[in-house]
Amino acid sequence: MAKITASVYSSHVPAIGAALDNGKSGEDYWKPLFAGYDYSKEWIRENKPDVVLLVYNDHASAFDSNFVPTFAIATGEEFQPADEGWGPRPVPVVKGHSRLAAHIAQSVIQDEFDLTVVNSLDVDHGLTVPLSLMFGQPEEWPCLVIPVAVNVVLYPPPSGKRCFAFGEALKRAVESFDEDLNVQIWGTGGMSHQLQGPRAGLINKEFDNAFLDRLADDPQALVDIPHIDYVRQAGSEGIELVMWLVARGAMQSKVVQKHRFYHVPASNTAVGHMILENP
Ligand code: DHB
Ligand code: FE
Repeated sequence: MAKITASVYSSHVPAIGAALDNGKSGEDYWKPLFAGYDYSKEWIRENKPDVVLLVYNDHASAFDSNFVPTFAIATGEEFQPADEGWGPRPVPVVKGHSRLAAHIAQSVIQDEFDLTVVNSLDVDHGLTVPLSLMFGQPEEWPCLVIPVAVNVVLYPPPSGKRCFAFGEALKRAVESFDEDLNVQIWGTGGMSHQLQGPRAGLINKEFDNAFLDRLADDPQALVDIPHIDYVRQAGSEGIELVMWLVARGAMQSKVVQKHRFYHVPASNTAVGHMILENP
């Protein structure tokens, strides 16, 4: 039986990928940010997943305003890094797990979550930057990755409550798969940031830290936060945090917190990071 053993939460700022790709991670600006992932790199070497369900959002790279699935799963064999305007990131191809992805689609759709099934998908910074933060710069990604895309770009995105319940359905799906697999689920994006308009540059440390406090011990306190509160308090792009609730919903209610990190700024964003294990 496949099992979800742990969850990882992380921001996905594109400039982090650019810093790594261009050899700038040792610069004063970036050093403290990457230091926050030193423990995580060690932890994941010791807790290597077979498969990561990587919950992320596409930023109009694979989907544009013509097609915006609320929830999508990628069932392909492999996924190329997307060209986001400067050429594709020089990172390894992402290898999927088609059989598990198809099983998840079967399970969650029958469980009343109407996923869009995607076969061919180029993956942008939303997916590749968390991989780089956790694994560094390997020749090949050390595990298989199933992209699970959530719309947080075009209103209306799904509610936090729906995202948490989707995570619960993902857990049931994984646990009913017939192969022994160590599966992790990652929730990415956030934390507070706003990239446009008069409030561009908004950061809210208080909101972010309260969110981190509750994510581990009291996630139910987070699921009722309405969209407008994310926008008001965490900025227009702070809504990416609903993807963390998908990952948390796939975990047991009591979890063990292995790591917590918060750093401001990385580009325009407050970087949050957490690792939770199932007991
Ligand atoms: C930034 C953050 C994001 O989440 C994103 O998708 C793009 C840019 C930033 O802070 O620059
Ligand atoms: Fe983003």
